[in-house]
Amino acid sequence: MWADSYIFGTPTRYGNVSAQLKQFIDAQGGLWAEGKLADKAVGVFTSAGNAHGGQESTILSLYNVMAHWGSIIVPMGYTADEIFASGGNPYGVSSSDGGENGSSEEVLAAARYQGRRTAEKAAALIGQPVGN
Ligand SMILES: Cc1cc2nc3c(=O)[nH]c(=O)nc-3n(C[C@H](O)[C@H](O)[C@H](O)COP(=O)(O)O)c2cc1C
Repeated sequence: MWADSYIFGTPTRYGNVSAQLKQFIDAQGGLWAEGKLADKAVGVFTSAGNAHGGQESTILSLYNVMAHWGSIIVPMGYTADEIFASGGNPYGVSSSDGGENGSSEEVLAAARYQGRRTAEKAAALIGQPVGN
């Protein structure tokens, strides 16, 4: 697989990954068997209808899959102001339909931070600087 890193996004479905994304994931068994999904820096972002509608468990459910792939999971922790401003989810960036996890701008800023942080970790893994 050509990508050095990837981030999956899914709306929550009862605190779990959407069936559509799960179907895509289950179609990757060939790449998995060839070891091509291993050692990549990865992350997850999600959305839910409610402030506490399953954002964290949705992200964690995808982390289970990523552990089986041998991924290098990159959670957000509390490593930047953008995380606090968007609701403080240390697992990955998330939003809620009601905006309880921050305004659209705050969540978008956190998403940009997640992309940058994950790319930096990927670049460190492959020993190259991040391009702009
Ligand atoms: C089958 C189904 C299950 C859902 N389960 C939940 C849930 O348990 N909690 C919740 O807050 N939202 C739930 N939602 C709402 C969606 O997660 C929410 O509308 C979605 O994240 C919006 O995605 P978008 O911002 O990408 O449009 C569910 C929606 C569907 C269709």
